[in-house]
Amino acid sequence: MMAPNLRRKIPQIQSEAASIDLMGAGAPGRLGSQRIIIDDDKLLKQLETECRRHLALYDRFYTETYGARSPAHLEKFIQNAKAEKGTFWDSFGVASLALLKEAGAGRGVRVLSLGSGIGTVETAAARILGADVTGIEYDRDYATVAKRAADWFKANGLTEGGLNLLQGDFLEHDLKGYDILYYFQLGTSDPKALEEKVLRGLKKGGRFVVYQYENRKGYGFPKLAEKSNLTKVDVKEGGLTLHAGAIFTHK
Ligand SMILES: C[S@@+](CC[C@H](N)C(=O)[O-])C[C@H]1O[C@@H](n2cnc3c(N)ncnc32)[C@H](O)[C@@H]1O
Repeated sequence: MMAPNLRRKIPQIQSEAASIDLMGAGAPGRLGSQRIIIDDDKLLKQLETECRRHLALYDRFYTETYGARSPAHLEKFIQNAKAEKGTFWDSFGVASLALLKEAGAGRGVRVLSLGSGIGTVETAAARILGADVTGIEYDRDYATVAKRAADWFKANGLTEGGLNLLQGDFLEHDLKGYDILYYFQLGTSDPKALEEKVLRGLKKGGRFVVYQYENRKGYGFPKLAEKSNLTKVDVKEGGLTLHAGAIFTHK
């Protein structure tokens, strides 16, 4: 089976970084928020070990399915893991999983990933945290890889929780019944539509988890911030700050 060309799509996501200040709430402090730091070395080491193992598993899936190494950016994620300027360039899952765990992801907890890409974080959340994970991805190539990955993890008995990775538009997906929504900041070109959807569809007490990509000023979603308890989260390991994010708990 021909491996899809996934690398060409990565710069498109990165180039959106410039627009982020326009969507940032920027002042969560005014909204009665709190800030927490996750710096439990033991937990973070465990997550790091598990995430490395997960990428090796993911690579096995990819090689078995497509007869090629998994996309080069996965390799790069590992190489860039401990980066410069005291910031941990975490894209292989540690901060995402720490955030999801902080938001309560675990056995029996229903997580919806909004824009599940090729499913690396999503398969990890099901395998490592044991959460019941659904993911929606618009891009057909990404979604096909993600669905095959989910099937492979399930067939090999590697998932603790449920794992259902679908192709579709998350703006049209029913949010009913989910405890946690996971969103990789900058994952949509229409954050306002997403905000409206979350405001209408996320249940009371449900959490909207925003994994922060690069900007450390704001998370976006100002209306949602007004109607939620907002917890800003930093993850620190060995003096390095990992990219982290925010948890909006719907009031
Ligand atoms: C930055 S990636 C996140 C991948 C993965 N969830 C992670 O945390 O590593 C964001 C993804 O959202 C997808 N996306 C953007 N808008 C979408 C929409 N309306 N419905 C479904 N997927 C969407 C993009 O195609 C992209 O693959």
